[in-house]
Amino acid sequence: MAGRDGNTENRRILVTGSTGFLGSRIVREYRDRYQVSAPGHSEMDLCDEASVKAYMEAAKPEIVIHCAAVSDTGKCQEYPAESWRINVEGTGYLARACAREGAKLIFCSSDQIYFGSAGMEPHREDEEVNPAGEYGRQKLEAEKRCMELCPDSVCLRLCWMYDRERLLEKEHGNFLTAFLQALKEGREMSYPVYDYRGITDVRLVVEKLLQAFCLPGGVYNFGSENEYNTYETVRRLLEGLGYSTEKLKKNETAFAGNPRNIRIHMGKAEKFGIEFPKTLEQLLSANERLL
Ligand SMILES: NC(=O)c1ccc[n+]([C@@H]2O[C@H](COP(=O)([O-])OP(=O)(O)OC[C@H]3O[C@@H](n4cnc5c(N)ncnc54)[C@H](OP(=O)(O)O)[C@@H]3O)[C@@H](O)[C@H]2O)c1
Repeated sequence: MAGRDGNTENRRILVTGSTGFLGSRIVREYRDRYQVSAPGHSEMDLCDEASVKAYMEAAKPEIVIHCAAVSDTGKCQEYPAESWRINVEGTGYLARACAREGAKLIFCSSDQIYFGSAGMEPHREDEEVNPAGEYGRQKLEAEKRCMELCPDSVCLRLCWMYDRERLLEKEHGNFLTAFLQALKEGREMSYPVYDYRGITDVRLVVEKLLQAFCLPGGVYNFGSENEYNTYETVRRLLEGLGYSTEKLKKNETAFAGNPRNIRIHMGKAEKFGIEFPKTLEQLLSANERLL
């Protein structure tokens, strides 16, 4: 079975969502080392189980990295039925096909599952959760389907990811490109005080996914821990880079009265040797390449 022996060279890997932020970077990194297939909508329509089944039967992947999703939380909130078909039902079709074909499924879930949970401690995978947003609810239901239909699935609760570069024309800015742009233009920047979350370098996620192939089936937090709120993260980043914090403003409106805490605890994945540097540590370690 794929990855069980730790040898992943030349494996057949299927990546869904390969035109997206994460999927495109996975394909770029893996295509010279593995046999990568990256079907678009027209080749494998996630909303159509027959299409998923047919593609999987033909491609016979050993590992499936499932990145395709409606990943915009606002869109999920606005179009719950349409996004449910892709995020939940599509994931279920893929999980069933993986079980049938004996493929290891790596499902990209999200830390948004913890949005709505009480407490200010970093969250662990075995906590009871009740996501406040539609996107988080969909990811939680998709995880359940993965585990029911294909118990060997690995569901990774990813954090907010960034990169220094824009790989695709259509890509929106991310945390780091937006920060660097504001810095370059000398613009005012505002970040929320009542928001606690991990922010992770996407290149580390792509690199450490290789270790995830060998994980036993289950749900894992997968990204950087962060002890600071988002405003404080940026304040310390500016200071660490040697910049003035004069243009940095506190956003005290977002999540006021009910702070959002979606920080992850990495203890479970760390038991399997998967470690990420903390958010600020990673941002500052890239210092010389940032500016
Ligand atoms: N980015 C983050 O910070 C972050 C954080 C936590 C979790 N995640 C999760 O990680 C995964 C990857 O995120 P991302 O930022 O790379 O997402 P993204 O940039 O929005 O890309 C989503 C991908 O899904 C594809 N897709 C959408 N609907 C589809 C359908 N019906 N059939 C086939 N493909 C479809 C899109 O194809 P088109 O381009 O052709 O529409 C695109 O390639 C997602 O599951 C997301 O929820 C992301």
